[in-house]
Amino acid sequence: MLIGKAQPEDMVLHPIRYPWAYDLYNQAVRNTWFPHEIALKEDLDDWAKMTEDERHAVKFLMAFFNPAELIVNRSIALGMYPYIKAPEAHLYLAKVMWEEANHCVAFEYVLETFPLDRAKVFSTHLETPSMKAKEEYVFKYLRRMTETILDIETVEGKKDFVRNLVATNIVMEGIWFYSGFMVALSFRQRNQLRNFGSMITWVLRDESLHLKFGINLVHTALEENPELLTPEFANEIRDIIIEGVERETAYNKDLFPRGILGLNADYVNQYVQYVTDRRLEELGLPKHYNAKNPAKWMSTATDVFELVNFFEAQNTSYEVDGHASSSTKAKPVEVAKEAE
Ligand SMILES: [Fe+2]
Ligand SMILES: [Fe+2]
Repeated sequence: MLIGKAQPEDMVLHPIRYPWAYDLYNQAVRNTWFPHEIALKEDLDDWAKMTEDERHAVKFLMAFFNPAELIVNRSIALGMYPYIKAPEAHLYLAKVMWEEANHCVAFEYVLETFPLDRAKVFSTHLETPSMKAKEEYVFKYLRRMTETILDIETVEGKKDFVRNLVATNIVMEGIWFYSGFMVALSFRQRNQLRNFGSMITWVLRDESLHLKFGINLVHTALEENPELLTPEFANEIRDIIIEGVERETAYNKDLFPRGILGLNADYVNQYVQYVTDRRLEELGLPKHYNAKNPAKWMSTATDVFELVNFFEAQNTSYEVDGHASSSTKAKPVEVAKEAE
């Protein structure tokens, strides 16, 4: 069993029961990167030429992402790690937690480099109702992780585990983050902030694996605990996701009060709906919005193709220790397929 109370026999890596988790660990190690590898200062010329609305969008993104990385780290430490038995999954989660720390520091580097009012950026998430509403949504689950005891051996405990996972991994990392990445990468599409775009691509590459892990975890938890597979619980999961989308929709209106060249709240929200349909399908649920991808260019954004078949990806200059073997030749589940 993947979720449950860890026993002494769970303390050795072999036999590996969930090769996909070990493969993710190996791929994540190969994806290791450091923020200062990117020469962000080169983007300062672009910054000087950008409009106030464009700068607002970047500041707003930073204001959301900065705390978000730390919130996600807490949710992994409190809501995922303690209830997972498999050591190969623990190995991967240890790397994920470093990655979230690395993302936080990467955004810190952005805040240090661009001429921003840091105090204002840091306080935005406390003062902007639509951003607060997103955080409150996640904090509802985070509070449950810290303030109540979840008995993972019971059906209700397992359901809470899945609910927490859907809110933090599928909604926050798998929908909200993708919405933000699309906006951030749209600048590079217009030949602006290209180095910032490279940084976002690396963050996106990490996040696509975090999402893949989360989706595999939900599937495995449901397969191994068929008592969770009821229509009511499926509806509940869908409702958690839809509520997250509603909060994202309001937030994107504040992100783009007027819209910027080629991008406005409706465009971003259509992308959010498209991504949400993908997530619902990846979880085995029907589509809800039937939205078309308005940002087809995301498919051609540099490096995103790597996300499609990452187990088969050729070594690139971005990969560290690229010859390390993975445990199996697992068939990739195409989770992060925004590249279509
Ligand atoms: Fe992250
Ligand atoms: Fe993440």
